[in-house]
Amino acid sequence: MDWGLKNRLSSIIKPNNNRALMLAVDHGYFLGPTEKLENPAKVIAPLLKHCDSLMVTRGVQRTSVPATTDTPMVLRVSGGSSIIGDDLSQEDITVSIEDAIRLNASALAMSIFVGSKYEYQTVVNLGKLVSEAQKYGIPVLAVTAVGKELGKDARYLSLACRMAAEQGANIVKTYYCENFEKVVQSCPVPIIVAGGKKIPERDALQLTYNSIKAGAVGVDIGRNVWQSEHPVAMIKAVRSIVHGNSNVEQAFNLYKKLANENSKNKSNKPNQNKSNKPNQNKSNKPNQNKSNKPNQNKSNKPNQNKSNKPNQNKSNKPNQNKSNKPNQNKSNKPNQNKSNKPNKTKPNTKK
Ligand code: R5P
Repeated sequence: MDWGLKNRLSSIIKPNNNRALMLAVDHGYFLGPTEKLENPAKVIAPLLKHCDSLMVTRGVQRTSVPATTDTPMVLRVSGGSSIIGDDLSQEDITVSIEDAIRLNASALAMSIFVGSKYEYQTVVNLGKLVSEAQKYGIPVLAVTAVGKELGKDARYLSLACRMAAEQGANIVKTYYCENFEKVVQSCPVPIIVAGGKKIPERDALQLTYNSIKAGAVGVDIGRNVWQSEHPVAMIKAVRSIVHGNSNVEQAFNLYKKLANENSKNKSNKPNQNKSNKPNQNKSNKPNQNKSNKPNQNKSNKPNQNKSNKPNQNKSNKPNQNKSNKPNQNKSNKPNQNKSNKPNKTKPNTKK
């Protein structure tokens, strides 16, 4: 195996214990703003340092992941169908290898739909992607996607995983099932288990534990982390199984302890406006800036003053604030009033 490929793979599957904890946030590529992943930047920020790698689309990587991160990116490069379209299995490769390299991808990920209408297309695409990625030493992760009509049993998943490996995938992501050992044993490359739909935290930890025990190198978990009430507590608990060899009880106790601490911290904190609203000008006056520079609000939203009135700058020029500084309210920051003191008038009702 070439040095680059080996090096990238070892950033995803840690060589000291042959384990991997991948955080999946790529769901929007066919689900749009799915529940609790409406604002990817906000979801990713507190979790990024707790995963070994992030499974992401290029759009979310560019807009919502700081380029300063040292967490490896597993870039989803397939797509084309939506949850409301005719057939989810009709996927193609949507990202060029050049763009993947620009994004410094540590691996490329795509789905194959074995047994579906577009089986041929997706399996051939996997072969082509592997050929292309191999030229640059970039590993490919094949996702064995499961349509509604297809079972998630060991027979089906063994077929799909083995086919992915035969096409040259370096890692296969699949679902856990009964007799999962059989799936692992008949697949010559490492297997990572997808979390699936949100289930109670303890059950998701059990799934993680069972997957590792059956021979998976790790999990690529999404909804069961960021749809949890306590995502950081949850990813730490998952991590304690993947990397700390905790059993389910130990991991669940860790989750409860961290969740409890998190709840306490939240209720002790002063009110911070989490509404993601743009900076609100206290004076109720339209923001009038003499510099003739356009409003550089990074969120691309117009500056909204409390009065909800349009900008009344007579000259019809864009909203410009007096200080000549761009409005840098990035929308994820708590509202800071002029005195820089937290707003004490309203209790924080948000969790
Ligand atoms: C879905 O299409 C994506 O491949 C996800 O990365 C995958 O399903 C893992 O996320 P979750 O744990 O939410 O199932």
